[in-house]
Amino acid sequence: MSKKLTISSIKKVKGVQPLVMITAYDALFAKLVSESADMILVGDSLNMSFAGKSDTISATLQQMIYHTNAVCRGAQNSFVVCDMPFGTYIDKESALKNAIEVFQQTPADCVKIEGGQEKAAIIEHLTANGIAVCGHIGLLPQSVRSEGGYKVKGKTEAEREVLIADAKAVEEAGAFCMVIEGTKAEVAKEVAEAVSIPVIGIGAGADVDGQVLVFSDMLGLFEEFTPKFVKKYLDGATLVKNAVQEYAQEVQSRAFPTEEHTY
Ligand code: KIV
Repeated sequence: MSKKLTISSIKKVKGVQPLVMITAYDALFAKLVSESADMILVGDSLNMSFAGKSDTISATLQQMIYHTNAVCRGAQNSFVVCDMPFGTYIDKESALKNAIEVFQQTPADCVKIEGGQEKAAIIEHLTANGIAVCGHIGLLPQSVRSEGGYKVKGKTEAEREVLIADAKAVEEAGAFCMVIEGTKAEVAKEVAEAVSIPVIGIGAGADVDGQVLVFSDMLGLFEEFTPKFVKKYLDGATLVKNAVQEYAQEVQSRAFPTEEHTY
């Protein structure tokens, strides 16, 4: 069993080796991915791939706490990040109250918060009160409705400047690492170079300090749509459907169970 990463060991790998982050929402998959992932993210993307909703907005704190506990039980030696869902960190006081709830009710190692300069005071308040924070800049899925869709960032000079300022603000506020999502690769590279904490990309090219993917995307289990940045390492949906079809046929033809599976 490999040694569990700590905040300081995560910070130290910048420039040495890319970090491997993957989402998980339950104990079963957390255990399966924990052998290869440095960090497991209990993302609010579970609202889409696990709960079948069309975006992450309606994920609740209780949902995140439930799934984080399941993940922590399955991957007891992994560094676990719990996403703070939409509406749970609108000001310093509510953010601290809700993050404390996560820390008291789960063994999560840190929380993740979407937003750059506008969230710096909140990140500072959490870190000053003993809550480790992973930032999240670039495309922010929790802003999908206010932005009218998922818009790739870093396409203009103004966006590039904002992203670099966001990353610096998140670092200065005390975050120990951050995710950068849906951003032009050359800008994400600059962002990673502008800060001394690891910048973990998703749809942000190769020149950052690590990568994160949603497990159901990279295992080909989520069939609704596949973003350009997702590489499918398995055709999970086909494998599962074929296996279930074989089971159904064997039940119908009474080929299953045989003596081998009978008491
Ligand atoms: O919720 C999630 O899975 C995330 C990743 C897309 C980074 O925030």
